[in-house]
Amino acid sequence: MTRKRDWWQDAVFYQVYPRSFFDSNDDGEGDIPGITAKLDYIKSLGVDAIWSCPYFRSPKADNGYDVADYRDIDPSFGTLDDWKIMIKGIHDRGMKFLMDLVVNHSSDEHEWFRSARASKDSPYRDYYIFREGKDGREPSNWGSIFGGSAWEYNEPTDDYYLHLFAVKQPDLNWENPKVMDEVADIIDFWADLGVDGFRLDAFNNSDKDQSFPDVETAPGDKYGYAGQYYVSRPGVDRYIHELYRRELGPRDLVTVAELAYCPDEKIIQYSSPENEEFDMLYFFDMLNFDQNGYDKFSPTGFRVSDLKKTMDHWIGALHGTGYCALFLGNHDQCRPLSRFGNTNKYRIRSAKTLANAMFFLEGIPYIYQGEELGMTNTDFTSIDEFNDVEVFHYWNEHVTEKGEDPGKILELLNMRSRDTSRSPMPWNAEKNAGFSRTKPWLKVGSEYKNINVEAEDADPDSVLNFYRKLIKTRHGREAVIKGSLSWIGMESDEHMSYIRESDHELLISLNNFSENIVTVSIPESVSAHSMSVILSNMSRETVSGASITLEPWECLTMTGKK
Ligand code: GLC
Repeated sequence: MTRKRDWWQDAVFYQVYPRSFFDSNDDGEGDIPGITAKLDYIKSLGVDAIWSCPYFRSPKADNGYDVADYRDIDPSFGTLDDWKIMIKGIHDRGMKFLMDLVVNHSSDEHEWFRSARASKDSPYRDYYIFREGKDGREPSNWGSIFGGSAWEYNEPTDDYYLHLFAVKQPDLNWENPKVMDEVADIIDFWADLGVDGFRLDAFNNSDKDQSFPDVETAPGDKYGYAGQYYVSRPGVDRYIHELYRRELGPRDLVTVAELAYCPDEKIIQYSSPENEEFDMLYFFDMLNFDQNGYDKFSPTGFRVSDLKKTMDHWIGALHGTGYCALFLGNHDQCRPLSRFGNTNKYRIRSAKTLANAMFFLEGIPYIYQGEELGMTNTDFTSIDEFNDVEVFHYWNEHVTEKGEDPGKILELLNMRSRDTSRSPMPWNAEKNAGFSRTKPWLKVGSEYKNINVEAEDADPDSVLNFYRKLIKTRHGREAVIKGSLSWIGMESDEHMSYIRESDHELLISLNNFSENIVTVSIPESVSAHSMSVILSNMSRETVSGASITLEPWECLTMTGKK
């Protein structure tokens, strides 16, 4: 079955991290009225839809990915009435809205868990996964994704509960049909209020092998990675299909699945329309190619050939069946410019090139707030300036427990931690970058005097204005939505260049990822056509010939009719 044409297949998404977007009431934290206040800005980019990270009632142990009430807004973000005003504002501007659905786990402060942990007779006991200890220790040696054990001792019932993420994020038990009923009701609740779809957080972890076998551990480690027992198991298909049948399908809600460590053989299954599972796939680990395996804090250096191979792999696998999200950054990653681009002489040029290189691939582009300004990593000078639970776990393990050099660990955290991209959005050059009139919850990036919305809005050559052109140029292009993909110089470590071809259109995107002048040979199939430049970060208007010479970090996109 081919997928029916739907609005999101030609859409560009904008990802909002609400705590850092805009503070409307000067308490130092971004909020929902803050998003509403900036909707004209988001609309001005030309995007079609917004995905917002969570804003539900939460103790914020993992910045809102620990939900204590799925039907209410955290007071620090506003009220449900504020949310209704926001969604109306989004729809009035012709955009759609996707919310984060975090139902692999809840917060330990959710009333279900409070009751479940208090007594074995609680009606909510089976909403979670409790097990007796083994020989005076945890039921298994599974490691948590954030470090340490995946089990936490629960005194009132003298046993342990499972948490794949932080201690304050107990996993829900999807083998209990009541959990499914609850989630279906939550979907119903938000669909009635007008939400257009959901990003399903960590959902391919929802089915666990509940016999909890021990796993191998690295020498000297107490706990090991147990993904083989909880990643993309068959239950995930059953659960999402049932949600599709009961709620998502009938209510025409769009889904984007966050898939972490997903094996290749599952991706067609997840995205084939006849299976009625997910619409878009968002590979959490799409950007693992410049690090050692899953360890984000062991960077191995960036080679653009690895990026090309990664994109070729996912896009090739999905071509003709499904769609993946295209992104180089998000709230779980550092800033792409600091990771893949040039933060000095060629900052502006390279920010444009990174975007241009990704935008003409097959898939759905997601822009993470601030990327459209060419933001770089925030620089933290001490551990006390950070906020993220993942950072503190890493610091405790490496500095406190293993006694490693704190300076070296700080350097790694500045390169790769999630906080590097979670700093407040810079709106202008005023105090606190115009984000708030109070000291923000997380440090503002030091470059906000140059890199901010007001300054870039006024500059026709800014990264921001390039993004506006880029989005406009991408929309509605047949070759981009469904054309074939062929690479020019796949092995090159200097440029990322490719051709997209559909029945009526030919498109070529050339992107120099280096500080050198690079010459790219253009295949005859393209050079024989008359091509016009549709986008350039060097104001080029015409280009032709069998080879094209690109300046450092130059990008160029051309199209022609067939
Ligand atoms: C997802 C979120 C991340 C969060 C985790 C646990 O990966 O993107 O921010 O920490 O799930 O909910």
